[in-house]
Amino acid sequence: MENEVKRIGILTSGGDAPGMNACIRAVVRAALGRGIECVGIRRGWSGLINGDIMTMDNASVSRIINRGGTMLYTARSDEFRTLEGQKKAAATCKLLGLDGIVAIGGDGTFRGAQELSKHGIAVVGIPGTIDEDIVCTEYTIGFDTAANTAVECIDRLRDTMQSHERCAVVEVMGRYAGWIALTAGMSSGADIILIPELDYDIEAILATIKKRVAAGKHFSIIVVSEGIRHPEGHLVSQRTVKNSPDPIRLGGIGPLLAAELEQRSDIEARSVVLGHLQRGGRPNPFDRILATRFGAAAVAALAEGESGKMVALQGKQIVTVPLKTVAGKQKLVPADHELIQIGRSMGICFGS
Ligand code: F6P
Repeated sequence: MENEVKRIGILTSGGDAPGMNACIRAVVRAALGRGIECVGIRRGWSGLINGDIMTMDNASVSRIINRGGTMLYTARSDEFRTLEGQKKAAATCKLLGLDGIVAIGGDGTFRGAQELSKHGIAVVGIPGTIDEDIVCTEYTIGFDTAANTAVECIDRLRDTMQSHERCAVVEVMGRYAGWIALTAGMSSGADIILIPELDYDIEAILATIKKRVAAGKHFSIIVVSEGIRHPEGHLVSQRTVKNSPDPIRLGGIGPLLAAELEQRSDIEARSVVLGHLQRGGRPNPFDRILATRFGAAAVAALAEGESGKMVALQGKQIVTVPLKTVAGKQKLVPADHELIQIGRSMGICFGS
């Protein structure tokens, strides 16, 4: 099958993630190395619909391995969620002579990729999202860097919270899954970690803080995912993601929780929403290597005639898995996750 693939397209879609550029570089250079032409598609699936393309050569991906964001821009496309949009995208592929598409992104990207592959276009997905919520892969591009960024911020906050004897509520990203909160919280020595997968009780949080005060520790660090649910069952956060397939409300739970803690105790609380700060910045070596391995593997998969697949890290190996087993699913933090068990045994409060 090798060499039947002559020309491929590469796009990034959904939220950007540190390491996407390193991945684009790997795809372009691995393709060129196999004698396959590579076309950059700007602004995700909507760029494919509109034929918004750029020629990619070795030089066009120079000096991007260390840069955050995505040189191809990214977007969420409402049109691509329609059959009409998918037909238009497939027609553009045919018009441009593209034998395959490499799509870097999260679950929304893969749902799109799966639909496109049904229109006879070979598609391989690469997991790239700071949320780390893609099934079948141990890591997604960008998560490790984002978690590191969050840890660095929390370390700084600890200094000032300790000095003023305050309680910090740090809201991190994580729409459905608490991977960033769990990882950053455990690595920064947080006292309370709240994730969407576990319900929380404000009384348990207050009790943990009071216990710390009684032990002479007049400051506390609470790390909270943006996607946590209010104990009454509704989402209390403020923001919605435009053009997202899921009308979930995001962001703003941190400030609400800080206000509630102040109201219900004599604790002085401050909230910090890390927000998009976590998505920007230079990818760390782990993400650069993961991105490079994923990029090369995606090109190899297309060259070998694979389609409707996602590259994934399983153990130490990069493998391909069918998109149909990935798309529409979420890798959530299990309630009995080892880190939660260890954390509980060390007195960390996970909301109850
Ligand atoms: O990329 C995933 C993600 O970062 C989520 O954690 C977050 O909820 C969402 O994207 C934010 O999206 P937007 O960039 O549209 O604000």
